[in-house]
Amino acid sequence: MRILKTLKELRAYREFVKGSIGFVPTMGALHEGHLSLAQKSIDENDVTIASIFVNPAQFAPNEDFDKYPRTFEKDAQLLEDLGVDAIWAPSVSEIYPNDFKSTVRVSGISEMLEGVSRPHFFEGVTTIVNKLFMQVQPSRAYFGVKDYQQLRVIQKMVEDFNIPIEVIGCPVIRDEEGLALSSRNVYLTPTDLAIARQLNVILEHASVLVKSMNVQEVEKQLENDILKAGFDKIDYITLRSAQTLEEIKTVTDQEIRVLVATYLGSVRLIDNRVVI
Ligand code: PAJ
Repeated sequence: MRILKTLKELRAYREFVKGSIGFVPTMGALHEGHLSLAQKSIDENDVTIASIFVNPAQFAPNEDFDKYPRTFEKDAQLLEDLGVDAIWAPSVSEIYPNDFKSTVRVSGISEMLEGVSRPHFFEGVTTIVNKLFMQVQPSRAYFGVKDYQQLRVIQKMVEDFNIPIEVIGCPVIRDEEGLALSSRNVYLTPTDLAIARQLNVILEHASVLVKSMNVQEVEKQLENDILKAGFDKIDYITLRSAQTLEEIKTVTDQEIRVLVATYLGSVRLIDNRVVI
C-alpha cells in the first residue's frame, strides 16, 4: 500500500494506476463503518484510494479540531490489511496554503438541520470534498448514510457541477446494540454509552408511531423518549423527505427519514433511519 503525502506524489500515482478508481474520504480514527466503505470500494473497483485528512475548515472554533482523535499508524494498518491500494494523507498546508481563497457552497439543503447549529460545516465539507475529488479524480466515491445530510449535500454538489463521479451511499454500521459507530463514541463514559445505545431503538419506533399519529405528534413523542432515556439536550429530532430533507406535513407515499442530533454532555451524536 502506498502512502501519498504530497500532490506531486498523488499525481504521479494517479498517472501510473489503470482502471476504475474507488475513493473513500475520511478524517481517520477509523472504525468498522469506514472500513465497510473501503471494502465496498475494493469490491467494485480496480484500485481503491482512501484519504485521511482532518479538515480544519469543517470545524468551528469551539469544536474539537485539536482533540479530534488522530490514529494514523493504526488506520494505515487497517486499510492495508483490507487491501486498500493507497492512502492520500496530505498536510494542512498542502491542502490550504496561506493564500487559499475559494469555497464551495451548496445552498438550501446545507442550510437546514446540521447547517443551523454548525453554519460553516457543510461549506467546509463541500470545499474539501470538491478539492479531494479533483485531486484524486476517482470513478466512484463512497460515503456513509450515517451522515445522511452530508451524503445528500455532496450528491447535490456533484449534480450541480456535473462532476463525473458516481457517489455511492453505504449503510450505517452499528455496534451489537445498534449504536451507530462514530469516531466520537470514544468520548462517551460507560453510563453515557448505555444511554446512547437507546437512540437507535427510539428511532426505529418512529415507523410504528406514524401509523397512529400525525408528524408533529410523532416528533413530540420521540423528543420525550430521547429525554426520558437520559440525553442531556436535543438539537433536532425531525421527520423529513428523504429526497430533499424538507419538512413534511403529512405521511404520504414518499420516502421519509427520521433524523436526530442530540447531546450527552459535550458529545454530539447524530443518527437517522428510514421511517417509511
Ligand atoms: P468521517 O467522519 O471520518 O467519515 C468518513 C465517512 O465514513 C463518511 O462518509 C461517513 O458517513 C462514513 N461513516 C462514519 N460512520 C459510519 C458508520 N457507522 N457506518 C457507515 N459509514 C460511516 O465524514 C467525514 O469524515 C468528513 O466530513 C469528510 C467527508 C471526510 C470530509 O472531510
